[in-house]
Amino acid sequence: MAFIEVKNLRKVYKLGNEKVYALRKIDLEIEKGEICCILGTSGSGKSTLLNMLAGLEKPTRGDIIINGTNISKLSEKKLARFRQENTGFIFQSYNLINQYNALENVGMPLMFKGVPPSKRDRQAEKMLKLVGLESRKKHRPNQMSGGQQQRVGIARAFVAKPNVVFADEPTGNLDTKTTDDVMRLMVRMCRKYGITLILVTHDLEIADYADRIVHITDGEVTGIEDHVSSYDPEKDNEAGASEKNAETERSAEKNDPGQTEKK
Ligand SMILES: Nc1ncnc2c1ncn2[C@@H]1O[C@H](COP(=O)(O)OP(=O)(O)OP(=O)(O)O)[C@@H](O)[C@H]1O
Ligand SMILES: [Mg+2]
Repeated sequence: MAFIEVKNLRKVYKLGNEKVYALRKIDLEIEKGEICCILGTSGSGKSTLLNMLAGLEKPTRGDIIINGTNISKLSEKKLARFRQENTGFIFQSYNLINQYNALENVGMPLMFKGVPPSKRDRQAEKMLKLVGLESRKKHRPNQMSGGQQQRVGIARAFVAKPNVVFADEPTGNLDTKTTDDVMRLMVRMCRKYGITLILVTHDLEIADYADRIVHITDGEVTGIEDHVSSYDPEKDNEAGASEKNAETERSAEKNDPGQTEKK
């Protein structure tokens, strides 16, 4: 059984008397640890599909089975819990909480998991550092650029090392260099922790990082191609250096009695 199975999925929106078939019939299987790119033009149904997969919206018909759980059949409460425990989501429009600063936003998934504040802050800070935003940790979303907010969203999605991360145009607001940095970081995180990444984009260069590319047109899968990711962390000696630094600092912190957590 594949890690994620999508069967006969349909989503119809009703606008007055008119029906909009956002997804007609999607069947798809995604393996654990796979980086799967859903590629399609604007309006092809990418965000709709991703929202269904992540349990943010209910399908009109069909099933989504993640790690043996049919999420289409869960109650709202159980679904919320399932999402908290298993998933991270990077929104096309960031969806950060305006009253919270970057550090607090990134730490949210850990808070839901009951991680104590000092540990939460440490992990959130490490993630912010990895996305190059350590100097913005006290900034609120409206005090950051679009690209910076996008990177906070990426840090938030990965901080709790979920089983699966869903990413909707995760680099849509980033320049080429930052896009490459962030894509590599995401690939490294996925490979290191066995995280499954499902990302939607219209951008072929982003698709180049994927293990598999699923083409979607007018709410239907029109092709699935196996692909060799353009980036292999194991062949990249330089990369991960920043992660290692952050890791070393973290263990140094652990040994510093001043930072010891209160139980
Ligand atoms: N809430 C809604 N009500 C009615 N129609 C909708 C709704 N959400 C999406 N649609 C329609 O469903 C289709 C797919 O939309 P979707 O947002 O999934 O596209 P997309 O591939 O993510 O596009 P983009 O690349 O522009 O983000 C579009 O034709 C859109 O107009
Ligand atoms: Mg979209």
